[in-house]
Amino acid sequence: MESKRARLDRFISVKTGINRKHVRLMLAKGRVKVDGELARDIDQIVDEFSHVCLDNRVLQANEPTYLMLHKPIGVVSATIDENHKTVIDLIDREDKESLHIVGRLDLNTSGLLLLTNDGRWSKRLMDPEHKVGKLYRVQLKNPLTEEYISAFAKGMYFEFEDITTLPAELEIVDNHTALVTLYEGRYHQIKRMFGRFRNPVIGLHRISVGNIVLDNSLKPGESRALTGEEISL
Ligand code: URA
Repeated sequence: MESKRARLDRFISVKTGINRKHVRLMLAKGRVKVDGELARDIDQIVDEFSHVCLDNRVLQANEPTYLMLHKPIGVVSATIDENHKTVIDLIDREDKESLHIVGRLDLNTSGLLLLTNDGRWSKRLMDPEHKVGKLYRVQLKNPLTEEYISAFAKGMYFEFEDITTLPAELEIVDNHTALVTLYEGRYHQIKRMFGRFRNPVIGLHRISVGNIVLDNSLKPGESRALTGEEISL
């Protein structure tokens, strides 16, 4: 989801229907405030969360929202679905329809799901270049061996997308449990990677995304706003 950034004079002109020449005069006369500060520079960039006032009229006052949800198994990571309850159905907020999901989880995966209406934030979080690690606990049907560690670190070629997965970390917790850190989010990535060893994933749970760790006090289906520290990756 792209964020909406615009030059201040253009933004006001589009919002109010006042031509840009007039808007510039208004700016010069100190009639515009952005985030509570006088704004005189036509080149100033505003986005969808800038608070913009012309005289005493509020032209825009959107607030960014950042949530963590403990996604239960059986709930779909989508905003609309005909057959299943969606993660949006679990949220009790007026602005919930404006939210999008930051990195989906499969229907039978549980754990940390992030939702926001801030497109720039979610893009940064999901961009492999930013190397934000997503940590999963994985339950396997068959025993693990040391071989898995090097295979995950080396990357695996996926013919369908014609890509090789980025180096991923795998730690063996016990015979049938692994902790896996991915730095990207390919379709069914973990299941497909263990599939190479013909080892079915029987339980998958996301523990954290970067520094954001699923809050233990959240029961499946519950959500809370992120703290300032969690948002600032
Ligand atoms: N990998 C998967 O296979 N499923 C998920 O839900 C997340 C990562």
